[in-house]
Amino acid sequence: MSKFRTIWTTEDKYVEVIDQRKLPHEFVTIKLETYKDAEVAIKDMTVRGAPLIGATAAYGIYLAVREMLENQLDGSFLDQAFSDLRASRPTAVNLFWALDKMREALDNADDFLATAWKAAGDIVEEDVETCRMIGVHGLPLIEEIASRKQGDIVNILTHCNAGMLGCVEWGTITSPIYQAIQKGIKVHVWVDETRPRNQGSNLTAYELTRHNVPHTLIVDNAGGHLMQHGMVDMVIVGTDRTTRQGDVANKIGTYLKALAAYDNKIPFYVALPSTTLDMTINNGLTEIPIEERNQDEVRYMIGKGKNGNIEPVLICPETTPASNYGFDVTPARLVSKIITERGVCDASEEGLLSLFPEYK
Ligand code: MRU
Repeated sequence: MSKFRTIWTTEDKYVEVIDQRKLPHEFVTIKLETYKDAEVAIKDMTVRGAPLIGATAAYGIYLAVREMLENQLDGSFLDQAFSDLRASRPTAVNLFWALDKMREALDNADDFLATAWKAAGDIVEEDVETCRMIGVHGLPLIEEIASRKQGDIVNILTHCNAGMLGCVEWGTITSPIYQAIQKGIKVHVWVDETRPRNQGSNLTAYELTRHNVPHTLIVDNAGGHLMQHGMVDMVIVGTDRTTRQGDVANKIGTYLKALAAYDNKIPFYVALPSTTLDMTINNGLTEIPIEERNQDEVRYMIGKGKNGNIEPVLICPETTPASNYGFDVTPARLVSKIITERGVCDASEEGLLSLFPEYK
């Protein structure tokens, strides 16, 4: 596993991230110097994926504290930063978790800047360790299939990007995969392209390539066919918010993969850091806000043209409207198990409480 990260601090104590909108064609980094830079990076998907959104928001608060102190602004500036960052994306609950953590730290602080710096850094480090542990607990699920197949290739299907690019390091779904590869288990990943933003083809395929993980890109609708023909041993997806009863919000299209997996008796796993749990709500279908994004993300595809430029291409008539729901909810009954940093559990209140009794 490379020591590569998706967010880091610079010598002059600002923050840098990868411009994920340009991957896989260009590796460009962006320096965040104000909280507005962090807010825009989250909104326009320069950074994306639930844990990374949380980490970026945390550093956004650090930057707001710095701006406040350097420009001798009053506390209303910081309050505005909290509310702007809170409104940057609606579905991934890690965003709100990270902001609450920053608020809590600052509420008890003497030295605001040092406290914000440390609290944001802690959130980043916590994600690294959490994702590593998700791998430790997810690995036996892959090992079991590998041994059942007598060492033959384990075929894993995934949707969206819940790899390291959606987190800080390791990733959630990729952590068990990287750890399986390290143990010499033969793994092959079916990568859903994940329209409309193509996180699968742009990001998952990119990071699997960087880590030498055998993979094949498929269109979003191919999964059911592959499952019917015994070409998928397990599905692992990430999540942006999971409720107390184990309902799972993830990138649009996840639900259809879960239905196909259920119909074909293929295990459907959800890998999550506990920062993605929202134990204040039960019913994912009615209680999780689903982001609706700009329709042009559906109407246009962005890619590298033959001239080498990255450009949008219109794929429908000029006047055809589109709808763009960013996420869907997979009901707990379709989830085989949830993989967390503390272990593997059923997708149910009992299951989650067995690992996280502090939520009783
Ligand atoms: O819209 P995005 O790219 O932020 O959505 C990301 C996902 O749906 C991921 O699968 C999810 O955040 C899990 S993160 C490891």
